[in-house]
Amino acid sequence: MFGIVRSGLRRGFETIERPFDRLFGPEGNPVAQLGALGFFFFWIVAVSGIYLFIFFDTGIERAYQSVEYITNDQWFHAGVMRSLHRYASDLMVLMLIVHLLREFSYDHYRGARWFSWLTGRPIIWLLYTSGITGYWLVWDKLAQYVAIATSELLDRLPIFGEPIARNFIATGTLTGRFFTLMVFMHVAVPLFLLFIMWVHILRISRPKVNPPRLLSAMSLIALIGVSIWKPAVSQGHVDLAKAPVEVGLDWFYLPLYPLMDFWSKGAVWGLLGAFSLMIGLMPWLPPLRRAKPAEVDLAHCNGCARCAEDCPYEAIRMVRRTDGMPFPAQAQVNASLCVSCGICVGACPSSTPFRRTEGLRTGIDLPDYPLRMLRERTLAAAAGLSGFPRLLVLACEHGAGARHPTGVIRLPCVAMAPPSLIDFILSKNLAEAVVVAGCAENACFNRLGIVWTEQRFARQRDPYLRARVPRERIATIWASKLAVRRFERELAAFARKVATFPPAKLRSPLPATVRAPGESRTLAEERTS
Ligand code: HEM
Ligand code: SF4
Ligand code: SF4
Repeated sequence: MFGIVRSGLRRGFETIERPFDRLFGPEGNPVAQLGALGFFFFWIVAVSGIYLFIFFDTGIERAYQSVEYITNDQWFHAGVMRSLHRYASDLMVLMLIVHLLREFSYDHYRGARWFSWLTGRPIIWLLYTSGITGYWLVWDKLAQYVAIATSELLDRLPIFGEPIARNFIATGTLTGRFFTLMVFMHVAVPLFLLFIMWVHILRISRPKVNPPRLLSAMSLIALIGVSIWKPAVSQGHVDLAKAPVEVGLDWFYLPLYPLMDFWSKGAVWGLLGAFSLMIGLMPWLPPLRRAKPAEVDLAHCNGCARCAEDCPYEAIRMVRRTDGMPFPAQAQVNASLCVSCGICVGACPSSTPFRRTEGLRTGIDLPDYPLRMLRERTLAAAAGLSGFPRLLVLACEHGAGARHPTGVIRLPCVAMAPPSLIDFILSKNLAEAVVVAGCAENACFNRLGIVWTEQRFARQRDPYLRARVPRERIATIWASKLAVRRFERELAAFARKVATFPPAKLRSPLPATVRAPGESRTLAEERTS
């Protein structure tokens, strides 16, 4: 069932993201920056909250007046800050919901990713607690409504000896101490939320926690504009003698409150518990079939740390050398974090297909899909090609290229292919051109595979694609598995372009007598041996 919902949602996201991609570019697309925007809005909430605290009176008698003073008398700075505080908090909820749905739709929550998913669960609870306690502090009619409904809900749990809802049903019963507790919670819970947000991204390398500057600036300007145009206001002083009727709700934080008028408190807790349980179980419904984690072969590891640099999941640590080789460090894989994306294989300087068959071992490899197998599959795919021009497709299994019928070498991620594999293909004349086909550019399944591939090709990141490799014979196509038709169009256009190249342009970049580093036998020798 999850599978059907997931692909439906994914289709929806891809449709929404396309115009944003065109407008902002894949790097700046806000839908691909939801986590980073969540952090950004958190900082706006924090700064505006600190500012408001200068003017806010934490005593129950004067809280409402101080908020009125902020809103009306000091509207041009403190009032704007109040609105910023409210609207940025609302946007945090929006980011949270859409981010959760997007990670789910892209299947980014199972396998080794369970940690980020599961730490998202306390984020939901803490964010809502922060928002709800915030509404309490204004001490207006909405605060009264929220206070009564929340305390009735809490009274359903066997936590408090005395029912706390009693505090809000008559004047004189509410103690300042209780109000002070709410003020304390409204400060302490967001601090704890920030801590959990930090834990949330602990197992991700280079998490995006800052949106691109243009996006941040546009979001801030829009927020200030809305704050001036439609300032956040209070809804009249609390009157504990009267039950609050007809209060305006904040639908981001309080969508369940009207439900409490129709459902029993037990049923509302049941709904919240079921939702929380479902989020907690989802990474294992069904569990992702996991390939064996990457393994280090010390005989081929020189401790260069490129694999640790490139792993998107913090699964590799450099540790002190254990085999007496004259290198200071060696790579060590944490099997529980490894998703077997193979990006480390593509990063290792020992991963060169030019090596002899029996010597085709590398510093770090995937037991289920070793570099040796990648070379064998490349040779087999090349042998199956006919006609002109012959195109080999190095395709990420999560993208559209994996569905192409001929000449495809499927990989867990395009960045598993070391750049020397392309050199190998073209210099051995296995094909006239190579297509590197990944996921959609702003949604790389393995987070950094596309970025690393582009940087390696542009000679900005080790291992470089050698200068001698003719760039015009390489194409990159980034297309999600739902964009098969676009992929085929771009592939056909590239094939037509390659077909126009003069024969000299299609000649091997490597003279027949020259052998690439690490190569000791010709391919013909290897094939016949
Ligand atoms: C406002 C609250 C949240 C913020 C600010 C936030 C922030 C982030 C950030 C910055 C990342 C790293 C993105 C990247 O660089 O690839 C991330 C990843 C992730 N988040 Fe959240 N998150 C929030 C809530 C949630 C919730 C509620 C869930 C789900 C229950 C969730 C699930 C995930 C998952 C599964 C990943 C890992 C994605 C991957 O491995 O590619 N997040 N989050
Ligand atoms: S296979 Fe991927 S997740 Fe595992 S260690 Fe290598 S780069 Fe990291
Ligand atoms: S990239 Fe290869 S050589 Fe470098 S540390 Fe990792 S396994 Fe060792």
